[in-house]
Amino acid sequence: MGGKPSVPDDQLPPERTFIVTGANTGIGYMTTKTIAQLGGRVIMACRSEQKATDAIQRMKQETQEDFKGSKGSNGIPELNIQYMNLDLSSLESTINFARQFKETGLPLHVLICNAGLLGPQKKALTDDGFELHFQVNYLSHFLLTLLLLPLLKESAPNSRIVNVSSEGHKHSEVKLSNIQGQKSYSVTKFYGNSKLFQIMNMYSLSRRLTGHDISVFSLHPGFVETDIFRTTSGATKCCVDCCLVIASKDTSEGSKTSLIAALDEKYNGKTALYFKGGKPSGHSGLSRNEAKQDNMAIQSTVLEGEADRRHLAGSWRKTG
Ligand SMILES: NC(=O)c1ccc[n+]([C@@H]2O[C@H](COP(=O)([O-])OP(=O)(O)OC[C@H]3O[C@@H](n4cnc5c(N)ncnc54)[C@H](OP(=O)(O)O)[C@@H]3O)[C@@H](O)[C@H]2O)c1
Repeated sequence: MGGKPSVPDDQLPPERTFIVTGANTGIGYMTTKTIAQLGGRVIMACRSEQKATDAIQRMKQETQEDFKGSKGSNGIPELNIQYMNLDLSSLESTINFARQFKETGLPLHVLICNAGLLGPQKKALTDDGFELHFQVNYLSHFLLTLLLLPLLKESAPNSRIVNVSSEGHKHSEVKLSNIQGQKSYSVTKFYGNSKLFQIMNMYSLSRRLTGHDISVFSLHPGFVETDIFRTTSGATKCCVDCCLVIASKDTSEGSKTSLIAALDEKYNGKTALYFKGGKPSGHSGLSRNEAKQDNMAIQSTVLEGEADRRHLAGSWRKTG
């Protein structure tokens, strides 16, 4: 019964290409390092060049340690990791990232939408005018996915989109009239909403991608001790501190569900699965409402504002 989930350890073809957002720390760091150790090519989509290059350096050092004593000339893997700038709080940065990635001419097999934030306690808006969780955790990932879909389609079969969501989606309260916190705001609700929208997006995209051999998954990684809790305060901080003592995982354990969703061939040909504890699981019924899913996606193409509205709306129409 139960037991710890195990991540596939088959070598990956060197041309199999992954993008991991928020790859410089936490769950994204460990996801990136593991995929690269298995031989895949990883693009780290991060907002800080310094943090990303430090992280690559650290991954290489840790790989020397991890594989110390391995026999044979292929004992210590060469990591194929590149940094590219992506600030998800900016639609312009997101659009630029997608354009620059396309210009590299690389294929794209797996997009892992991992970056995320929890906080601040007071409502904050991005320069584009969106509530911060809404844009960073959900909207920019939605835009990124649509912009990169042509590459994922070209790389099919067995391309994947993996949304790192959260059980926090159960603390959501979706009211379109308050979607940007126009009327009220709480960090738990707005984090939860952004995570629910990622799951709804999984369903609506999956339906529109029928026949394209692209899997769309979402997941809860578990309660993982990372920097994400750095801005919590008050009652949320007390709750987080208790959970960290009782039930937290390190990033090695905490990246396993992401890795299974991204790599496990058992799930080839499947789509619209929410993973928890390393396997498909149930989740909040709210996300299964098809009318709400499509409404959310349509709202997002409209809400996205002036930066590239026609492009986003056009990309969404083309998925169908
Ligand atoms: N830890 C948990 O218990 C837990 C539970 C459920 C779900 N999750 C989800 O797991 C994912 C990874 O979280 P984590 O725990 O590993 O957190 P983390 O250690 O704080 O890492 C978050 C990553 O997201 C990046 N990021 C934040 N804002 C960004 C922006 N505007 N543009 C680009 N990148 C940005 C961060 O970059 P910087 O380093 O530059 O800030 C960092 O690389 C998140 O989506 C989170 O919601 C985590």
